[in-house]
Amino acid sequence: SDNGGRSGGGRSGALSPSPVAEEVQRIDVNPPKGTRDFPPEDMRLRNWLFNHFREVSRLFGFEEVDYPVLESEALFIRKAGEEIRDQLYCFEDRGNRRVALRPELTPSLARLVIQKGKSLSFPLKWFAIGQCWRYERMTRGRRREHYQWNMDVLGVPEVTAEAELIASIVAFFKRIGITESDVGFKVSSRKVLQEVLRCYSVPENLFGKVCIIIDKIEKIPIDEIKRELNATGLSEEAIEELLQVLSIKSLTKLEEILGGAGEAIADLKQLFSLAEKFGYSEWIQFDASIVRGLAYYTGIVFEGFDRKGKLRAICGGGRYDRLLSTFGGDDVPACGFGFGDAVIVELLKEKGLVPELSLEVENIVCALDHDLQGVAATVATKLREKGQSVDLVLESKPLKWVFKRAARTNAQRLILVGNTEWQKGMVVVKVLSSGEQYEIKLDELE
Ligand code: HAM
Repeated sequence: SDNGGRSGGGRSGALSPSPVAEEVQRIDVNPPKGTRDFPPEDMRLRNWLFNHFREVSRLFGFEEVDYPVLESEALFIRKAGEEIRDQLYCFEDRGNRRVALRPELTPSLARLVIQKGKSLSFPLKWFAIGQCWRYERMTRGRRREHYQWNMDVLGVPEVTAEAELIASIVAFFKRIGITESDVGFKVSSRKVLQEVLRCYSVPENLFGKVCIIIDKIEKIPIDEIKRELNATGLSEEAIEELLQVLSIKSLTKLEEILGGAGEAIADLKQLFSLAEKFGYSEWIQFDASIVRGLAYYTGIVFEGFDRKGKLRAICGGGRYDRLLSTFGGDDVPACGFGFGDAVIVELLKEKGLVPELSLEVENIVCALDHDLQGVAATVATKLREKGQSVDLVLESKPLKWVFKRAARTNAQRLILVGNTEWQKGMVVVKVLSSGEQYEIKLDELE
């Protein structure tokens, strides 16, 4: 067909002329690889999910923020060798500025906090839901574009902030029917690594780099990890000790090795004690192998995982007390998490917990005669002003079609505007669930 993809139909005279053959450029109707369309049924699920993100954030007293999807590239360039940097969608704009589609929200948050400076009153409790872009190798639950729910607390140096953030994720899971037998949180602190590195006099500036290498342990062969660690200047002895510490899964064991005096143990103990008070002890466990793949984390780090081990991390976060100074600002204690919209949907599918969401309009309004189209519009306006949703039938259609449409939109009431009734100022209301039918004056329509 050379009609530019429009479905043929009805009043073709109103359409602009068809393009001549050489103007037709057949397009790929799929979105770019790794990205998604959201047709209505998918959009309903997305809204359902986002409404829970928003509602939980509200319950915890957080304020919503957002930032541009396009940021200056420099915001995301860190020197630690993170995967996220190689995955950047970046380009030069028409004004020769290096820009990037954001792969995450945290650097933008830091930028905004520096920009607002003294006008902010701490602590900040901010949340955002934003689209992020990463040129990923596609796997289940990992895409090139995803939405991330973030909650961040700025201005609180104590572990109470991390405990509160994990509490909010637990609250979210509970709302959507996910229990502690489905998911858990693995928690550690980067201070564990820091204390080991300090014992071996490894310079502080190598810390981020070492964390990034260690984060790849599950993904690349251990010899390669050792080689990379060695290349940063770590001795073989330090590497062996590091790897041994990373295998620890009990806080008591960790305390035996590190001694009880350090901050790592103190922070983790406080977190586990708070977890008990919040009532989510069953959800969290210590696991020294958790370091997370972003260079800026400085303290507690955590990730949500599915207990069956089928999926990638559901969410992740931690403390990043020194991010702002890397951008030239004054540091503010900070922690937060990112929770993607993809892995959780995979989990809901596994569990048969994806809700059935259908379109629901309250009324369908239809004129039985073409001349009454204007009256039908008045009826629709009256109902909409009362807060009722109306699917107004915009063309002359047979009743059979209207009933079919009402079934598809799950309309509760059908309102028919017919000549006989309208002469008395009345319309016909049919309650679709019961079949009950009555006539009513337009003004009395509720
Ligand atoms: P992240 O661990 O890189 O952290 O990502 C957080 C979450 O975003 C992941 O656990 C996952 O749910 C989702 N996610 C990330 N990449 C993808 C992808 N390619 N496809 C689907 N989902 C994805 C951060 O981004 C930090 N900025 C989080 C944070 C906020 N830390 C402190 N505040």
